[in-house]
Amino acid sequence: MAKAMGATVWMVKGAYDRPSAGSFSGGGTGNVTRTTVIVVDPVHPGDQDLMPAAQLLREGRLVAFPTETVYGLGANALDPDAVCAIFQAKGRPSDNPLIVHVADRTGLGQIAADIPSLAWALIDRFMPGPLTLVLPRSSIVPDIVTAGLDTVAVRIPEHPVARRLIELSGVPLAGPSANRSGKPSPTTAAHVLEDMDGIIPMIVDGGQCDFGLESTVLDVTGSVPVILRPGAVSAEEIMSVVGPVLMIDPAQATAVLQGVTAASSLSDSVQDIAGETSQSGPPRSPGMKYRHYAPRTPVRISDGPDGQARSHQTRAMMLDALQDGLTVAVFCSTETAELIAESLPAGWLLADLDRAEGKPSTPPPPVSSAISEHSRRHVFLIAHGSRDQANTAANRLFAALRQLDACGADVIIAESAEATGIGAAYVNRLRKAAGGGAEPASR
Ligand code: TXA
Ligand code: MG
Repeated sequence: MAKAMGATVWMVKGAYDRPSAGSFSGGGTGNVTRTTVIVVDPVHPGDQDLMPAAQLLREGRLVAFPTETVYGLGANALDPDAVCAIFQAKGRPSDNPLIVHVADRTGLGQIAADIPSLAWALIDRFMPGPLTLVLPRSSIVPDIVTAGLDTVAVRIPEHPVARRLIELSGVPLAGPSANRSGKPSPTTAAHVLEDMDGIIPMIVDGGQCDFGLESTVLDVTGSVPVILRPGAVSAEEIMSVVGPVLMIDPAQATAVLQGVTAASSLSDSVQDIAGETSQSGPPRSPGMKYRHYAPRTPVRISDGPDGQARSHQTRAMMLDALQDGLTVAVFCSTETAELIAESLPAGWLLADLDRAEGKPSTPPPPVSSAISEHSRRHVFLIAHGSRDQANTAANRLFAALRQLDACGADVIIAESAEATGIGAAYVNRLRKAAGGGAEPASR
């Protein structure tokens, strides 16, 4: 059921795929039984359209909202009960701290106790944008937000809807990605609805997220910045502003120094930091130890030294899996998709799921339409774009994992990419999706 209100379209839950649905018990103050999706203009959102969401946030309720990276699940960061509701809605372990979203530098100054001089050049260059800084925590930030750490992660989103929503609500927003813990982060409102329908009162639908991968998390509390999570702002971009950085690789439990040609060019203190960070002990970012981004279907990564080698490995892995009698789903470059199309054994067909994806607010096709009784003779496939463009691979990854997961295949073969620029974040998320180097999400 949808009712028009000026430029706003209100849709009750299920309106995406069940247009006639409409009878629900009221939300009330206890268990949420109705999720409202409100569609807004992503570039020039109207205040009238955002006011109901801002009002809910002021009342301590949860609202999912778009950012340029992924959808966030927002709550008043200064209200411990509201923040507690985030952990419950996501099923998130309480030792995994949240990012606080603020509208501007004034907000940044309220959440951080201090902004180290190193951080200012990064703030000038990348904020607003997809960079999260870990800073000393101000006393106004409740313990539950930071999981008891003495630092706080802060970000100024660039997305007009996110920024205006923060301004209108008048409070900083604690906001993890709006997925159930362990599932791929949502890049459309439809993904949020899949995970949060009936759990949260409102989703603001601002279309598809630009980057499709989460922000870069950078700890600037020490003498050398440490990339705790690679993201939409690349290590190369950060180094162009602040010089060498440390990069934590949770899958391998190592710390890698970026931007130095020889270890001898490092000062002793920097070498000490590299050594310490790679030791076992409490992780600098607790979230890194959890398995993330994983679909139910097992993910296998096809890799190789260059694009052509990766294409050939993807094809070889697909053929091996078919020979083992498995139903296969593939996420790869356009070039690899062409190679696969030429190489299918007789009687096999490609089911290209691309068409349904990539449109704002479009839900994945129902499973029943993707699987026919002949499905065992199909290879399900999503091609993200040219193998030279890691940004399209990054942009499509989470949506593709959700969509391929719905095919009921036995295995997803996902093609790797060159780990430079945003490619580093893509490879990182791919490895997490394949279960590399992390504890199960339930822990
Ligand atoms: O793009 C993004 O960052 C999205 C959008 C919604 O802003 N948010 C997001 O939040 O990805 P979340 O909660 O899914 O991931 C936050 C990451 C986690 O790995 C967490 O452990 C880390 O940031 N983190 C948060 N506070 C921290 C702190 N004080 N020190 C170190 N790591 C922290
Ligand atoms: Mg997340």
